[in-house]
Amino acid sequence: MTVARTGSIWGATMLRRRMLVSLEINNRDRAYDWFLGWMAHRASSGTASRAAPWIRSHELSVETMIERRANGSSSVFFQLVAGPGTHWFKYKGAWMQVKRERETRSMMGGQQPGMSVPWETVMLTTLSRDRALFPQLLAEARDLGMQGQEGKLVIHTAWGIEWRPFGKPRRKRPLQSVVLEPGMGEKIEQDIKAFLARRQWYADRGIPYRRGYLLHGPPGSGKTSFIQALAGSLSYDICLLNLSERGLADDKLNHLLSNAPERSFVLIEDVDAAFNKRIQTSADGYQSSVTFSGFLNALDGVASGEERIIFMTTNHVEQLDPALIRPGRVDFSALIDNASPLQARTLFQRFYGEGSNVELNPDELDVLAQNLEDIVEEKLGREQRVSMAALQGHFIRNQPKDAVASSLDLFTGILKKEP
Ligand SMILES: Nc1ncnc2c1ncn2[C@@H]1O[C@H](COP(=O)(O)OP(=O)(O)O)[C@@H](O)[C@H]1O
Ligand SMILES: [Mg+2]
Repeated sequence: MTVARTGSIWGATMLRRRMLVSLEINNRDRAYDWFLGWMAHRASSGTASRAAPWIRSHELSVETMIERRANGSSSVFFQLVAGPGTHWFKYKGAWMQVKRERETRSMMGGQQPGMSVPWETVMLTTLSRDRALFPQLLAEARDLGMQGQEGKLVIHTAWGIEWRPFGKPRRKRPLQSVVLEPGMGEKIEQDIKAFLARRQWYADRGIPYRRGYLLHGPPGSGKTSFIQALAGSLSYDICLLNLSERGLADDKLNHLLSNAPERSFVLIEDVDAAFNKRIQTSADGYQSSVTFSGFLNALDGVASGEERIIFMTTNHVEQLDPALIRPGRVDFSALIDNASPLQARTLFQRFYGEGSNVELNPDELDVLAQNLEDIVEEKLGREQRVSMAALQGHFIRNQPKDAVASSLDLFTGILKKEP
């Protein structure tokens, strides 16, 4: 009896092995979200009874999406996705079993409190003869997933030693909406385009294919906005790296920098702050263990053919160690300053010009723009300036005439450097 029983179990196992094929997708893989989204999409398109047999199953999860509209209002959607458990669906005539499992004990992203995500897997099983459907299904899911991202800017942040998309993809900001000194934006854009066109040139000479940019200047002058807009216009993602993050150490940093997703800029904000605060803040338990030399080493990295583009920003370029600014680490450095007379004028025209609902004819607007330009010019002569961010806020709150008339209060003296 025992022999027969063991034999039949063994037989069944063998049969399953030969006839079934399984595919595991875990939630560290990008395909995971694509696949769940794809299943949900099948449920919502077509008639519920036919398109999504699994929706009748008893385990469902909800994914909430909040869509913000340009006018500030938002709406919430609920999307039902297959919850943990076993589901069945039919794809191109073949039945497939989906098993979604959650392992609650091991958490990912352990270092960041409140950010841990349970480890999950989805196991797809189908008949061996239908195995060719897996790649098709995944490709379909990917295309659907990418559709939502097309024309959007994806921001990644570091989770432990890997990069993960942070939040939903954002709307791209038009490059022209960031008003820099005439020619400055174009100069940076051309530099990066020239770099991207020279991959082979670098490879032939054995030079690491990487470029570093440093944008410095007072806060609110458009550094971050410009980098985001530039990434969007080149269809690049942004990997946001915070050097003073808890738990980030030299080896992790090195790993992150050399494993950034393809087609992405690594953005390091306020590089000056990372190495200055260290000692002062350690009293409140703050501990970052990235050292300056570790950072330099990570920037230099091991030579590889991989493309790497780093953007750094700082409000205090004078506090940066010269070792950081040498070519190879920072190849292009630019001052993004407070509003120049022309920038103020252009921003004004962008704001109240065509497309805005301001009732002024172009001539009136021109006069006001000229007035503002003159004010900024005159203030500049007395060493007083205004940031682009302050101007933007002022324009949002005021009608054009008042905006110009009351602009005088916005200016502040240029801070003298401490000796
Ligand atoms: N040059 C600029 N052109 C248009 N908007 C700007 C500019 N500079 C700043 N702003 C606006 O001010 C805000 C802050 O800008 P941000 O890019 O974060 O400045 P920074 O990174 O230089 O501190 C943003 O809302 C941005 O739209
Ligand atoms: Mg910034």
